[in-house]
Amino acid sequence: MANTILVGAQWGDEGKGKIIDVLTERADIVVRTQGGNNAGHTVYIGPQKYVLHLVPSGILRPGKTCVIGNGVVIDPVSLMGEINGLIKLGVNINGSLFVSETAHVVFPYHRELDELRELRKGKNKIGTTKRGIGPAYGDKAARTGLRIIDLIHPERFAAKLKVRIKDNNEVLRAFGAKGLSYKKVHDAYRAAGDALKPYVRNTVTLLHEATQRKANILFEGAQGTFLDIDHGTYPFVTSSNTTAGGASTGSGVAPNRMDKVVGVMKAYTTRVGEGPLPTENEEIADMLHGMGREFGSTTGRARRCGWFDAVATRHATMVNGIDELAVTNIDGLDSLETIKVCTGYRCGDLKYDHVPNDIESFSNCVPVYEELPGWQTPTTGITSWKKLPQKTRAYLKVICDLTGAKLTIASVGPAREQTIFV
Ligand code: GDP
Ligand code: IMO
Ligand code: MG
Repeated sequence: MANTILVGAQWGDEGKGKIIDVLTERADIVVRTQGGNNAGHTVYIGPQKYVLHLVPSGILRPGKTCVIGNGVVIDPVSLMGEINGLIKLGVNINGSLFVSETAHVVFPYHRELDELRELRKGKNKIGTTKRGIGPAYGDKAARTGLRIIDLIHPERFAAKLKVRIKDNNEVLRAFGAKGLSYKKVHDAYRAAGDALKPYVRNTVTLLHEATQRKANILFEGAQGTFLDIDHGTYPFVTSSNTTAGGASTGSGVAPNRMDKVVGVMKAYTTRVGEGPLPTENEEIADMLHGMGREFGSTTGRARRCGWFDAVATRHATMVNGIDELAVTNIDGLDSLETIKVCTGYRCGDLKYDHVPNDIESFSNCVPVYEELPGWQTPTTGITSWKKLPQKTRAYLKVICDLTGAKLTIASVGPAREQTIFV
């Protein structure tokens, strides 16, 4: 399979978890390289639903190695909760999961600050997951963060945490909030640190050795291209590089060791949180929500929905170098008579065939649509490309051509079996 980076080509929740689970069959190692437990990756195995937040989605295939890389920010209490939940469901973790020593730690003051800053922003809020992601990456960049290696060394951890709690309590009080108890945070985090210690490794050398023996590595992107801190709709973004470059910096596997980039995109568009979404459409949202779909896997919030935006996905192909596309949730459009695809934007007198960098312009963009006939046939039971309705194939061809990459996977349902290799 070679070393493959999988990224979200839209605003997150494209179905990356499902596609990772499918591709893991042919991989040896699955690596998360950025983000934290703001991610929610859904995998179904039979009737059992798993929602992975920090643990790579490859963990559900026995015998595969899973790595949480240096670029991830880890809430260790939450990670231990996730690990224990998986163990309860019979998933084997021991010897399969490794956590980077140099990944940064998310603390309760990060979560509190995340929430307080959002409150202060009022109507300009980002709509974060309130998992402390922004403040944790902020500390990393400011060089005031603690890493997993600190967490598992009790004396070092106590000394560093004391300073961090003192500093952050001053900030929390300036916001009018209560300070945190050093002892409470210390004890909870030390307990999580002890529980996590058996999994902690130098994952850079672990992955280097894997590349030496030509193991197949799958890099599991979290969030999506337009939530990238550099290439997304700043400031309505997350705080990490969600695009393909993040896979290298977040794992220590060099760019010239990467072989392929797979972009995952829904057959339509969704976004959870604030910020521009040019093709947003209330009717599509009502239809999908009415089907019980498009509620956030991490926060349960109803996702905003709209038509497929080919300007956005073409941009994603450019910044990620997407070679192959996996299109998911095709079945979500099964009932429609006509389907719209956004092929350009209009903003005042200006026409755009690319995503404008200026957030003000992007927020005011009006989509230019092309209309395609719907197939109005259920696709969820279809298992081969040839058996898909001709109109479905035509629609997929149009959106992949506009996106500028080759369609290799078509997904018509959440289950492993509902996957068509093209
Ligand atoms: P991720 O964050 O990219 O892994 O995506 P999420 O798991 O947050 O959201 C994707 C949702 O779509 C989940 O509920 C998946 O089970 C579901 N899903 C993925 N592919 C398909 C598909 O082809 N059809 C349907 N009906 N659901 C899908
Ligand atoms: P997966 O990996 C969709 C969004 C939040 C918010 C913005 C910033 O499941 O696709 P943050 O908590 O990261 O500071 O929030 O990013 N967001 C996601 N949206 N899927 C995700 O992850 C997301 N992770 C963060 O809703 O708009
Ligand atoms: Mg998700």
